[in-house]
Amino acid sequence: MKSTVEKLNTALSNLSPWDGLREVATLFPQGVVFSTSLGQEDQVLTQIIATGGLHVHIFTLDTGRLFPETLDLLARTEAKYGKRIQIFYPESTDVESLVAAQGINGFYDSPANRKSCCNIRKVAPLKRALKSQKVWVTGLRANQNQNRSQMNKVEWDEGNQIIKYNPLLDWSFEEVLTYIETHKIPYNPLHDKGFISIGCAPCTRAIGPDEDPRAGRWWWESSSKECGLHTK
Ligand code: ADX
Ligand code: SF4
Repeated sequence: MKSTVEKLNTALSNLSPWDGLREVATLFPQGVVFSTSLGQEDQVLTQIIATGGLHVHIFTLDTGRLFPETLDLLARTEAKYGKRIQIFYPESTDVESLVAAQGINGFYDSPANRKSCCNIRKVAPLKRALKSQKVWVTGLRANQNQNRSQMNKVEWDEGNQIIKYNPLLDWSFEEVLTYIETHKIPYNPLHDKGFISIGCAPCTRAIGPDEDPRAGRWWWESSSKECGLHTK
């Protein structure tokens, strides 16, 4: 598998997201899925997939704690592009046990609680969404944080046993914004209120102009700025 991934990385490294996505959709028919958080990068990829008529299945993980604006955007995006976005939810019995043990907002109390919540609400549903698929497409960009700056466009995700493809890895934030404006792509109104990277409502805050773009995620924790979806 290692050599397949390396070959694919070489083949896709210099391709644009349009050509790269078309290529993987051709190489892995019925096996390519894209996870959207409805963030700006993901909206770019949804537009490329939908307008290009690419056979890439799109899904999102609804943790049960998303902003209403995010769910409204989901509906607006489906309507605009005429494409259904499949929603994966956490197992209800797992959420019931979690909140019984740590309380409804227990994630503020310790990093361990926070990780349990992310595991149940995001990481486990992601595993279900990726089961039996061949390629997982994400909207990750290299300059979002230190961990992401070391990624390749094509990688092997050991935890999920799947090839991971990040078509926008070398895009700047400015390129994303310009593309959204040029193509009139719907976006989350919270972005205009100082929210840059948007996840669950209780774990995301607006940031100031001089703050790191991911400073608004799990801001009460000093260490990790990853929830477990993208850690190796
Ligand atoms: S996170 O790990 O910190 O939550 P981030 O919000 O930066 O991730 O998004 C990075 C990529 O992870 C997105 O482009 C998307 O592919 C995937 N992702 C993150 N959150 C979700 C979600 N709720 N549903 C589906 N995909 C998601
Ligand atoms: Fe839970 Fe917050 Fe993680 Fe969402 S981001 S799954 S609310 S800890």
